[in-house]
Amino acid sequence: MADIESASLQFAVMGSPVAHSKSPRIHTLFAHQFKHRIEYTAIEVDPGGFAQALAQFRAAGGRGLNVTVPFKLDAFRLADHLSDRAKLAGAVNTIRFEPDGTVFGDNTDGAGLVHDLTKNLEVAIKDKKVLVLGAGGAVRGVLAPLLKHHPALLVIANRTVSKGKELAEEFAHFGRIEACGFNELKGKRFDIVINGTAASLKGEVPPLPENLFANHALAYDMMYGDKATPFMDWAALHGAERIADGLGMLVEQAAESYLVWHGVRPETKSVIAALRKGG
Ligand code: ATR
Repeated sequence: MADIESASLQFAVMGSPVAHSKSPRIHTLFAHQFKHRIEYTAIEVDPGGFAQALAQFRAAGGRGLNVTVPFKLDAFRLADHLSDRAKLAGAVNTIRFEPDGTVFGDNTDGAGLVHDLTKNLEVAIKDKKVLVLGAGGAVRGVLAPLLKHHPALLVIANRTVSKGKELAEEFAHFGRIEACGFNELKGKRFDIVINGTAASLKGEVPPLPENLFANHALAYDMMYGDKATPFMDWAALHGAERIADGLGMLVEQAAESYLVWHGVRPETKSVIAALRKGG
């Protein structure tokens, strides 16, 4: 019989496609910091198969899950309890299986972005003019955490303007937030521009005007890859002083998940550096 006491605790990320996920590597590096014994795998799940995959993983002794595209809404619906930040995001990226058999759903994406901006990149959000590109699920999850840092103004620009306006209305009680189309950005300048559209996935950049960046502005893409995204290349050509991809956000949201599961928050800078080196 397996020795339960010394067995590794089971975690996984579920998504599709998920084979190239960096989460197993990240959580393994975190676990080394605390000498925790965990096993963290990437599980490819068929469309429509999330509920069953979750039940199977729990039945096999799983303690927690990360959930990525396209199952964050399924995870939201399946959770028995939700954190406030998951309720605001309308999506779940972190699941903890509770001892009483219930499923706790949380969302650490927004905290991950804000941590990366403020701690790793040392960019203050307070009193800054922030532009967020996109109005999909990825953007919804970061609005409240950004607004809680009191930017002077947060503008959502989206291809489908009505979606941006709906989000701006919904989050208006958190701070000053407006929405517009890309063409209405002409003549406006921002200190922090965050790309939360899916345009980079298609090798595209939203149609942005020249002179979008204020002095010392940061351009941030929530996506990351082996090379700069099209938005990052565009920002470099159009005067952004600093440019960052979403790798730091990925590691920071993972650290928040680790905290949800293990009660301790790992150190992240060395993990980001290891991933940048391809480690
Ligand atoms: P996610 O959960 O990743 O946010 P999503 O909910 O499908 O995915 O949202 C994708 C976002 O990227 C939307 O804001 C979308 O704009 P629309 O709301 O107009 O569809 C935006 N997007 C996708 N491709 C884009 C492109 N080529 N240019 C500009 N915006 C794009």
